Amino acid sequence: MTAMATTHNITDAAIASFSATPNPRLWEIMESLVRHLHGFVVDVELSQEEWATAIAYLTRVGHSCEGARQEFILLSDVLGVSMVVDAINHDAEGDTTESTVLGPFYVDNPKAAAQGADIAAGAAGTPMWIDTQVLDASGAPIAGATVDVWQCDEEGLYDVQRDLSGTEQALRARFVTDEEGRVRCWSVVPVAYQIPSDGPVGDLLAATGRHPWRPAHIHFKIVADGYASLVSHLFVSGDAYLDGDAVFGVKSSLIVDLTDHAGEQAPGGRAVSGRYKQLEYRFVLGKAA
Ligand SMILES: [Fe+2]
Repeated sequence: MTAMATTHNITDAAIASFSATPNPRLWEIMESLVRHLHGFVVDVELSQEEWATAIAYLTRVGHSCEGARQEFILLSDVLGVSMVVDAINHDAEGDTTESTVLGPFYVDNPKAAAQGADIAAGAAGTPMWIDTQVLDASGAPIAGATVDVWQCDEEGLYDVQRDLSGTEQALRARFVTDEEGRVRCWSVVPVAYQIPSDGPVGDLLAATGRHPWRPAHIHFKIVADGYASLVSHLFVSGDAYLDGDAVFGVKSSLIVDLTDHAGEQAPGGRAVSGRYKQLEYRFVLGKAA
């Protein structure tokens, strides 16, 4: 008589089925994935109906990815997985700037902008002068670094949420640091926004009584030869959601105070009527591994 299959020997059999994997890292990942996934299913005693619901849910997540919309990154973000991956891979050493999530709204190779440019492209909002510098751990400027900047508009939306093709870029640009390692540009003050909640990730938040808000922030991705690339945000101090970010991305070292200025002598030769804000920050990159 054949022995009945048990959850124990199914797990062992499934793991063993991958044991001839030539790539040792893939083997390590598959062995652990099967063990944890089976353990999870056994732990919650998943019903057939719940299994079907999970399959249908992940199918919806996949179908929701269209053009620049990336529902899987969003799902990873709200589950906290993106920040665990970040923590494992970017243990900031010394005074180097801490990293945080890339998020679902990054666009590869954004359009280039000149120093002092206004990336708002006509978007409404309080003008904000961004004055940053990219340094190495010794405090020396890093010239020629690529700095991608992206943020939401006054209504809390990214350009790619208004134009899924990603061709109409606004509040997004690529700069190159000058000899002093600086990047300076005009933008508008970012606002707290809700992550897209009209899809399966939004349904998950609603079903679990979670809010979809992220505190106001600007994204930066900095790449320089010989240095570890940095993906991070700068958060605006005082925001109501700094302690409750829907994607767990806040780190205290990334919270900045915006300073208040009057318009007469605005930087970059720009005439600003009324008040504007200024954001200053020094990014410090570690050496490449
Ligand atoms: Fe964002």
